[in-house]
This record gives sequence, structure tokens and C-alpha cells, in this order.
Amino acid sequence: MQLQKGQTITTEITKLAFGGRGIGQLDDGRKVFVEGAIPGDKIECTLTKIKKNYAEADLVRIVAPAKNRIDAKCKHFDRCGGCKWQMLEYKDQLKYKEDQVREALAHTGGLADSADLVKPIIGCDYPWLYRNKMEFSFGNESKDDAEVRVGLHPAGRRVDVFDVEECFIGSEIAAEILLRVRTFVRDHKLSFYNHKTDTGLLSSLFIREGKNTGEIMINLVTCSSEFKHKKEFVELFQDLPEVTSIYWTAIKRKRGVPTQHYENLLYGKPTMEEELKRPDGTSLKFKISPQSFFQPNTKQAEVLYAEVLKAAELTGEQNVFDLYCGTGTIGLFCSNNAKMVYGIELNESAVKNAKQNMILNGIENAWFKAGNVDAKLYDIPAVPDVVIVDPPRSGLGEKVVEKVCGFDPKKIVYVSCDPVNLARDIKFFAERGYKLSYVQPVDMFPHTYHIENVALLVR
Ligand SMILES: C[S@@+](CC[C@H](N)C(=O)[O-])C[C@H]1O[C@@H](n2cnc3c(N)ncnc32)[C@H](O)[C@@H]1O
Repeated sequence: MQLQKGQTITTEITKLAFGGRGIGQLDDGRKVFVEGAIPGDKIECTLTKIKKNYAEADLVRIVAPAKNRIDAKCKHFDRCGGCKWQMLEYKDQLKYKEDQVREALAHTGGLADSADLVKPIIGCDYPWLYRNKMEFSFGNESKDDAEVRVGLHPAGRRVDVFDVEECFIGSEIAAEILLRVRTFVRDHKLSFYNHKTDTGLLSSLFIREGKNTGEIMINLVTCSSEFKHKKEFVELFQDLPEVTSIYWTAIKRKRGVPTQHYENLLYGKPTMEEELKRPDGTSLKFKISPQSFFQPNTKQAEVLYAEVLKAAELTGEQNVFDLYCGTGTIGLFCSNNAKMVYGIELNESAVKNAKQNMILNGIENAWFKAGNVDAKLYDIPAVPDVVIVDPPRSGLGEKVVEKVCGFDPKKIVYVSCDPVNLARDIKFFAERGYKLSYVQPVDMFPHTYHIENVALLVR
């Protein structure tokens, strides 16, 4: 009988796909991908998509759980789009992540010896309360809901929002701020921004925390150029000395035009500070603006950057390129072992931070420029010995790989948050004479399928 959409089937999950979904099998051998199922689970699921080579299904019920399935810690686990792997012991999460890096290198990177090239993953000492940045949304739970909710999106939903009452990857202070904002919104009967009707006020709430400094930045984002309750909003946090910056950002959306952000500092300092420890025991301070990228897990950022240093093997003689440099973290981390570091970054406020961070830490051998790596690479007034890249999820792509290889660096250290795109780019580098020495996976995001890697390429 031909399978139909909406039909419920039973299957056993044998693998995890990249992206975290469980893989089962249809009777005819096609793979079926199911969110929330893990290897070893026997499940009932309803088919939602049927394609020539595969199918997708929603989990209905676990008929027999996998031996290593555990109860999730968080009460929102079943609906939240956040920590989808809480049903796995942390050690099992790490094993699956490591396997997925090997698989990406073998399949996408075409590396037959991928098993030997991947080092054992470095996990977190404590896999909870790790995030230094939380983004909450405003909305209703469903179209029949009359209350304004302040929290997160349910899995697979981009508009609906449920009230987050507990979150074990944020922090206690972030939970307290969230609660105060929710009460404030309801007391003042504020509206949320509705994408469909292009009306309403509140869009999102960002809470950033310097885990090593204790500083907190709050940023309330609205879709209106008016916010009447500025004073009351600031007063909400006056008894919390940790809150050192409060922003209200008005955003303007127009189809076909990049979203405009108008930042208004309502209270405190324009930037928040975080501190990172280097392996030699020294530490660096970083100023971070609301729009600037900063690694969301401070403790593991220190581990990640230490791995970059290890891979780069700097002796103080090398010119180092830090491409996609954000607030200058990696370049400045390397600066005391380099002749000179040169950073390029698209986000102008992050580059402004990088320059401030250079001064803040008394560093003189660094140079930063705002712009697209693809366009500005040749503006760097030096030839690199070592190139460090840390691009967004999409990776470098062949055009940038070609340009980097054009400089003929001895080493390329590639920091990546997407193993499949990393493997693709490793293949591009291999075609240009660079050999992969190893990949070091580092877990920055426990309870999610995300995995960061440091890859070393040499010629
Ligand atoms: C994964 S983050 C890494 C930032 C930094 N290395 C760090 O560890 O904090 C990637 C950075 O690339 C920047 N970016 C994205 N596309 C870019 C491009 N085409 N050219 C330059 N920078 C870009 C983003 O703004 C972001 O800061």
C-alpha cells in the first residue's frame, strides 16, 4: 500500500541526523526523519512529508524508549525550540556530536581517514547555566490567546511565544529580569509587534551577561519609534547593581531594505564588558556593543580560543590574519604571540569594539578594518603567515577559500560552527594544496545539536 501523508507508522530509530533529528526507516527502505527521537527509541510517528528518497514525520508516542533516554530537566522541554537534546545524558550528546563531525568530513569532505583526523571532543565542565546572551520574544501562545507572553518560540513556530518560567541554560538573574519585564508589560498593557498586520510595539528582549565580570546589558527592541515608558522601564532594574547598561532599540523594517536599528542608551554604559582568560594566565577585557557578536558561552570561548592558539603555534614572528573577527577576540587573544594581527569584520560596531578592546588591553600590534572579507581582504597591508577564519554558519565558500590560498599562508586555522560547511571548505582547500592536520571539536552549546570545531590546515 502506498504511504500517505497523515498516516501513522511505527519505526525504530537507528541514527541521529545532522540537525538532531532521529532517523528511522519506512518499510520500503526510505529514511524517515523524526524530531525528538533518539537512536534506540521505538516510536509511533505521523508522516508529514513524503519524498522520493526520504520522509519526515512528527513523533506521536515512544513505544519503547532507548536505554540511554533520560527525563529532561526543564519543564518546557516538550514544547521549547531550544534544548532539544535534554533527553540525552551529556556524555551521549558529546559522543553524537563527535560522530557527526567524522561523518561530515567523510561524506562532504571526502576524507576516508576522517576517524583519525577528529580529536576527542572537549565538553563543558558544567553543561548548565552557560549562556551569556538570551533573546526572548513577545507574542501570544496561539491566535486565541489574549495575554502577551514574554519568552521563547515553541519548536517549529516562528510567531507563537510561550512564557518561559524556567531555563537551565540562561542564569538566575536573566530569569529575574525576564519576570520583571513580563509583569511590566502586562501592568502597562503594552502590545507586541504583529508581523502580519505590521502593528504593535514590542519585538524582543536581549539580556547579555559578562560571566566573568558580572555586568549585565538589557536591550528592549521595539518596532515603533515611540516608547513612552522609558523611565519606568529603567526603574524596573534600579535595585540590580549588576545591570550596567539599559538600551531601547527601535527597529524599522521595510521590505527589500536591511532592517534599521536605532539604539537609545537609556541608562549606564554604552558597552558591556566581559573578560577572557588566556592559557598563559593573563586575561583580556572586551567591550561589547548591543549589535556585536560575542561567543555565547564564555567559559568554552576561553577553551575554543586556547585551541586556536595551540593550532596556530605562534612564536611572535608571524603576521596573523583574523578574518570575521567580531570584537577582535581571537586576534587579541593571539597578539602577545604574534608579530602583528590583522582583523576584518562586517559589523561596524564590532570593529569599533575591537579597536576599543585593543586600547583597553594596551595592545599595539593589532589592526582592524570594517567590511566584507571577500572585498576587503586585499586592503590588509601585510602578507600572512597564519590565517585564522571564523565565518558565520554558511562558511567561507570557494571564492574566499581561493583568495585566502592566494596569500599562500603556511597555516590556516578554521573555526567553524557548521561541520558540513567546514567539510565542504576543507575540500576546497585540499584542491589548492592544503592538507587537514586535525579537527578539534569543542562543545559550546550543551543540550543542542550545535557543535564548534577548530580545524588546522597546512601546506
Ligand atoms: C562566528 S562570528 C565570529 C566572531 C569572532 N571571531 C568571535 O569569536 O567572537 C562571525 C562573524 O563574522 C561576521 N561576518 C559575517 N559575514 C561577514 C563577511 N562577509 N565579512 C566579514 N565579516 C562577516 C559576523 O558579523 C560575525 O561577527
